[in-house]
Amino acid sequence: MITTGICRAHTNIALIKYWGKRSEALFLPMNSSLSLTLDAFYTDTKVSLDDRLTDDVFYLNGRLQGAKETAKISRFLDLFRRTAASSTRARIDSYNHVPTAAGLASSASAFAALAGAANEAFGLRLDKQTLSTYARRGSGSATRSLYGGFVEWHKGQDEQSGSSYAIPVDDADWDIGMIIIAVNTGKKAISSREGMKRTVDTSPFYPAWVTTAETDLQQMKQAIAERDFTRLGEITESNGMKMHGTMLGAVPPFSYWEPDSIRAIQKITQIRCNGTPCYVTMDAGPNVKVLCRYSDSERIKEELLTEFSSQQIIVSRPGPGIKVLSEAEWQY
Ligand code: ADP
Ligand code: DP6
Ligand code: CO
Repeated sequence: MITTGICRAHTNIALIKYWGKRSEALFLPMNSSLSLTLDAFYTDTKVSLDDRLTDDVFYLNGRLQGAKETAKISRFLDLFRRTAASSTRARIDSYNHVPTAAGLASSASAFAALAGAANEAFGLRLDKQTLSTYARRGSGSATRSLYGGFVEWHKGQDEQSGSSYAIPVDDADWDIGMIIIAVNTGKKAISSREGMKRTVDTSPFYPAWVTTAETDLQQMKQAIAERDFTRLGEITESNGMKMHGTMLGAVPPFSYWEPDSIRAIQKITQIRCNGTPCYVTMDAGPNVKVLCRYSDSERIKEELLTEFSSQQIIVSRPGPGIKVLSEAEWQY
């Protein structure tokens, strides 16, 4: 017998970054974070439980994955098997409508979609808050992709896995947009996981990151509550830059930036100096994201076209939370 569950999850870009774990085993973060879910990028995942299978089988974008990638998925699905008291193996089909491992948060939409699909397939009916704690254990940033708009991920207490979950903060339905400048969509050399671990272990700047991230978060929540776009942008830009600064202090030092990342940052600064509010943030990759008023996005895009091609510039509105899809909606 085959039982299926299908789910779509959108990616999210952190405005207050998650950078560093206090527990690697449980994916518990050092600091709370806050993100914006994006409409433009998402993952669709189907979990088909099949009692004839002796091992999980994982296809990504139609390609059978090897032992290492499949083992990650199996360990993740074990959490659901344990809760469901099941030992049934699954075939997993996943399609990324986002470049994989390029610093565009594929791991966030991936594990939120997989969590949503597994919840359906195993018939667990976990509530969204609990499901966010499950998604977290595939990839930290996936915790936040359960919800749409602005989302906070609570760091939680001590070693208590259940205390570190996401909550929706605001639906972002107030002229908010994000422009992605795709500098390089190839696979990064250092995964987010390795990068943050090296930073926690070796960077003398790391303790300052942890203490100031908490203040940044409180101020950002206030800016969102007041719909103060300028303040929101200023905190976004300074928090992101600060995270990248911690990596320069690591041993050995590293950076995700490429020459075109700096070109993009300088162009955005210039556009802002000319009077259009727009602010930069970057994740573990060379691609640049620009927080702006959605109503300004086409004008900003026009200006960016002097430096980048139109295929490199993707305009997004805020996106929704996870959605369970029917077999009829599975388009692959
Ligand atoms: P990103 O910036 O894209 O989030 P990460 O280094 O955090 O990069 O994570 C990339 C990893 O996430 C991939 O190498 C793969 O292991 C996993 N991943 C990405 N997409 C999927 C998917 N659709 N299903 C399962 N795992 C995925
Ligand atoms: C820079 O969630 O990809 O994008 O938890 O190890 O899977 P793991 O890492 P991941 O790290 C994301 C780091 C970031 C900031 C953020 O999304 O908050
Ligand atoms: Co990631």
